[in-house]
Amino acid sequence: MKGLVLAGGTGSRMYPVTQSVNKHLLPVFDKPMIFYAISVLMLGNIREIGVVCRDIDKPAFERLLGDGSKLGLKIEYIIQTHAAGIADGIKQAKRFLDDAPFCLILGDNFFFGPGLTPLLKDAMAKFKQATAFAYEVKNPSSFGVISYNKLNQVVSIEEKPSKPKSNKIATGLYMFDKNAISYVEKLTASNRGELEITDLLNVYIKNQGLSVEVLGRGYAWLDMGTSESLMEASVFIQSIEKRQGFKIACLEEIAFRKDWISITELQLASEQYKNTTYGEYLSNVLTTLK
Ligand code: DAU
Repeated sequence: MKGLVLAGGTGSRMYPVTQSVNKHLLPVFDKPMIFYAISVLMLGNIREIGVVCRDIDKPAFERLLGDGSKLGLKIEYIIQTHAAGIADGIKQAKRFLDDAPFCLILGDNFFFGPGLTPLLKDAMAKFKQATAFAYEVKNPSSFGVISYNKLNQVVSIEEKPSKPKSNKIATGLYMFDKNAISYVEKLTASNRGELEITDLLNVYIKNQGLSVEVLGRGYAWLDMGTSESLMEASVFIQSIEKRQGFKIACLEEIAFRKDWISITELQLASEQYKNTTYGEYLSNVLTTLK
C-alpha cells in the first residue's frame, strides 16, 4: 500500500498565522504538525509516501523531509495548485499512485492509542475496496457524519450537516483501492466548490464497498485545523511525553525501530538536532533503547 498525506489547502481557518506558513509545518508541541500524520503511515509499514501540497510550500516540505531517505522512506511531492478539496488531492496523485491501493491521511489529523498499530495491520489485512476510520465526538457538525440504518449498517456520510444523524464521524484516515481515481474523476464540486472526500466515500457505500472501523474511546483523535484544537493537541502531547518519557511521532525513532535506518543514520539525526529535546531524545534512543 502507498501512503498519501494531504498537506495542501490554504489553512484559512488559522489566518493570519497560516498566511505565510503552511499549516502542516506549524509546531504541535515539539514537532511540525505533519510528523503526526506521517508517523501513522509509518506505523502501518507504509514507506512510499506522496505529500500533496501547494507549489509555494514544496521547498519548505523538502527542507524538512527531503526525499524521505533519512527516515527510510521514499517521499514524493504532488502539487495541488488550488484548494479544490481532499478528493481533488487524490486526483492530482494519479501518477504517483499508479493503480496501487493507498492509505490517505489528512495532514492535520492526530491519532494516538495503544492499539493503533494492530488496528492498522488488521484493517490492511481485511482491506477490500475502501475503509474509513470512525470516531465519536460531541460536535459532529464540523465533520463528515456517518448515518446508520436500524440494522446499524452505514447508509451515507454527510459533510458538515447542520442536523447530524449520529455522533460518529469519519476521521481523516482512509484506505482506498485503485478505483478511487476513476471515482474522483467523475465527482463534481460541492456547494463550497470542493471535490468532497465524503462524496467519494458515498460512491463506495453505494457499491457496498466501504468498511468502517470504529476507533473506541481509548483512542485520542484530534483535527488540528483550528488554533484551539492545535493548542489542545500540543497540551495533550506534552503531558503524555512528560509523563512517559516517550515521544509521540518521533519519525527517526520509528524508522530505527523498524530497521529502516541504521544506528549511524540515527546518530546523524541526533547530531543534526543537537541542543534540542528532540535530539536529546534521539541520543537516548541510541543508548538506552533497542
Ligand atoms: O478531520 C476529519 C475531517 O476532515 C472529515 O471528517 C471531513 O469529512 C473532511 O472533509 C475533512 O474536513 P475538514 O473541514 O477538516 O477539511 P479541511 O478543509 O480542513 O482539510 C483537511 C486537510 O486536507 C487539511 O490538512 C488540508 C488538506 N487539504 C484540504 C483541501 C480542501 C488539501 O490538502 N487540499 C485541499 O484542497
